[in-house]
Amino acid sequence: MFITDYSHQSLGLVEEVFSGLSFKKNMISTLQQKSGIDTLAVNRFLNDIKMHHIGTYLHSLNVARLSAQLACQLKLSALDVYIISIGALLHDVGKTIISCNILDKKGRLNNDEWSLVKKHPQQGADIILRYDWGEQLKPMLLLHHERLDGKGYFCVSAEKIPLAARIVILTDAYDAMVSPRPYQRKRDILSCWEEIDSCSGTQFDSELIPSFYSVIMHNRKLS
Ligand SMILES: [Fe+2]
Repeated sequence: MFITDYSHQSLGLVEEVFSGLSFKKNMISTLQQKSGIDTLAVNRFLNDIKMHHIGTYLHSLNVARLSAQLACQLKLSALDVYIISIGALLHDVGKTIISCNILDKKGRLNNDEWSLVKKHPQQGADIILRYDWGEQLKPMLLLHHERLDGKGYFCVSAEKIPLAARIVILTDAYDAMVSPRPYQRKRDILSCWEEIDSCSGTQFDSELIPSFYSVIMHNRKLS
């Protein structure tokens, strides 16, 4: 289920995210038109991420796939599933301004490094808002490090965090936990799930947890 193959071509990545869901190819092009999102631009951004930092690129694909699955499980409209998935694909595009030395640093980040990392949601939103269609993706990019208890990067309160961002907050945190990183070993899915569950209602929207659990268990059976 999780994407570890480095050989994907840039074109067609958007379609790749939707493979395995019940979206037909002609439906994806209808959703592209309805949303107004320029898929070529999305693929260019993904390529920028891939060229800059392969780990962030693979994480972006995983978060997009998980977000699409969770949005489907929540029975959101096909258009919402599409928009949330593209927002999830690009949620970390702001990291392209952070050096790989910082992204891969094994030890603690110093204050300067940490303040640079904390800027990536705003940087990502600024990048995407150069396009008219970027506005609908803004919540996923800008708010993906927020928490329901208001203790996230920008201390945004729960009522200002829309469902689309809540989905990416959850899928992003989960993939960050289960994926091997330079500063952390690959972790067991069930121990990660216990951690997610323990943060229900504080970091994560508790109403999303049962549906996300179904997605994780479904993927576990397939792997
Ligand atoms: Fe991020």
